Amino acid sequence: MKVKRRLPSWVILLVFSTSFGLNVFLYIDKRPASNNLNPMFPRVIPKDDDNDESEGIVAVDEDRQSAVGDRPAKLEEKTKTTMKLHVDVLNRQKVRKTVLRKACSEFNTHPSTDRNLTKEELASLQHTLVIDKYRLLYCYVPKVGCTSWKQLFLVAYGIVDIKERQRSMHKESNSAFKTPGQLEQTEANQKLQDYTNFLFVRNPFSRLLSAYRQKMDGRNPQDRKQCPFCHPVTQWFIETDPEYLKWRNKTQPYSFLEFVRFVIAQKTQNDHWTVQYELCHPCLVEYDFIGKYETVQEDSETFLRSATNDSSLKYPDTDPAKQITNSSSDENMVKYYRTIPNDVFKSLISFFYRDLRLFGYSIPDAITRPHLRLSKLQLKLKELE
Ligand SMILES: *[C@@H]1O[C@H](CO)[C@@H](O)[C@H](O)[C@H]1NC(C)=O
Ligand SMILES: *[C@@H]1O[C@H](CO)[C@@H](O)[C@H](O)[C@H]1NC(C)=O
Ligand SMILES: *[C@@H]1O[C@H](CO)[C@@H](O)[C@H](O)[C@H]1NC(C)=O
Ligand SMILES: *[C@@H]1O[C@H](CO)[C@@H](O)[C@H](O)[C@H]1NC(C)=O
Repeated sequence: MKVKRRLPSWVILLVFSTSFGLNVFLYIDKRPASNNLNPMFPRVIPKDDDNDESEGIVAVDEDRQSAVGDRPAKLEEKTKTTMKLHVDVLNRQKVRKTVLRKACSEFNTHPSTDRNLTKEELASLQHTLVIDKYRLLYCYVPKVGCTSWKQLFLVAYGIVDIKERQRSMHKESNSAFKTPGQLEQTEANQKLQDYTNFLFVRNPFSRLLSAYRQKMDGRNPQDRKQCPFCHPVTQWFIETDPEYLKWRNKTQPYSFLEFVRFVIAQKTQNDHWTVQYELCHPCLVEYDFIGKYETVQEDSETFLRSATNDSSLKYPDTDPAKQITNSSSDENMVKYYRTIPNDVFKSLISFFYRDLRLFGYSIPDAITRPHLRLSKLQLKLKELE
């Protein structure tokens, strides 16, 4: 046997700093919190306490300070940065939950924490996956990196290999994970109470463009294989405006404008462009963690570190779908949204209204239209920024 080599000092430092960060962080989990079913992600306390920043996670910073003591300055700096990131992410959660709660009460609905859901309500949670191994409930939203999340859990369950690209993660996860509606009612409600409930959302304007570019842009609408998603659009035109189809070049791909008109008409529901609140019902069930695609790296890291005790779980650095479509780039947003006339743009704002309001989004700067006479709707959105 070989003689044990001394570990280089940077390894020691790394291990040390990682475990230190983790320990402090896990402390958040163990914090006794009165009146709090899930101390990991403190629930927003109604009304009066909104501005009380001294409560909850912020206090961790002080604990860390006193624990640090005489560690080398550099390491302390590094740990501080990591900790600050986590604390920032968790503090942001507080804001997101407050925004969500306010918007829900504006729509006269309230997430139920102390009420059992009916069978029908449970059945409506079709996008929620029960991940028993980690005691998680994940509501997936297409075009918001859901393939990566599904793959991450499928790999953790040993169902697919990390390098796997061929198999459909959606099919696999549908057979591996149940939805609350597929469980017995008591069990489903129990898990809704006990498990950590999370989702990831995205600015609806960029999500819609991403769906268009991936599913329809540049595809021949007459070729069902090439463009399976085009068929419902064609059907919609046949039903509502057959004249329009007569003069239209039948093999010419549907434009973004044609697609947007179709989506707003809501003729056919499709997961890729159904609004997010209809998929995840954030005013029916209470989410412990609201992640955003725009901050997916830090959100997912903090989330996984705090919600699971498996440090091997890691969200991939880049979302494969993002590289193909690159829809969130300002350049593309401007290019495509420029083709949308004002009246359709206004309808789109109404169509997205709940998603914008509930998840604290506004019209992206790149495509905003200051000259457009702002309706009451949009002024309300401004309020939340
Ligand atoms: C929910 O259902 C469980 C099991 O039937 C029951 O023990 C519990 O009291 C119910 N909770 C509420 C708030 O109704
Ligand atoms: C119809 O559209 C296709 C695809 O864009 C194009 O190749 C073709 O030239 C067009 N035909 C006419 C008559 O414009
Ligand atoms: C932590 O991980 C172990 C083994 O992987 C598992 O048995 C245990 O239930 C986990 N604990 C929690 C709180 O998730
Ligand atoms: C995505 O957009 C950014 C910003 O416009 C650009 O720099 C980058 O090269 C694009 N990536 C791809 C793969 O097109």
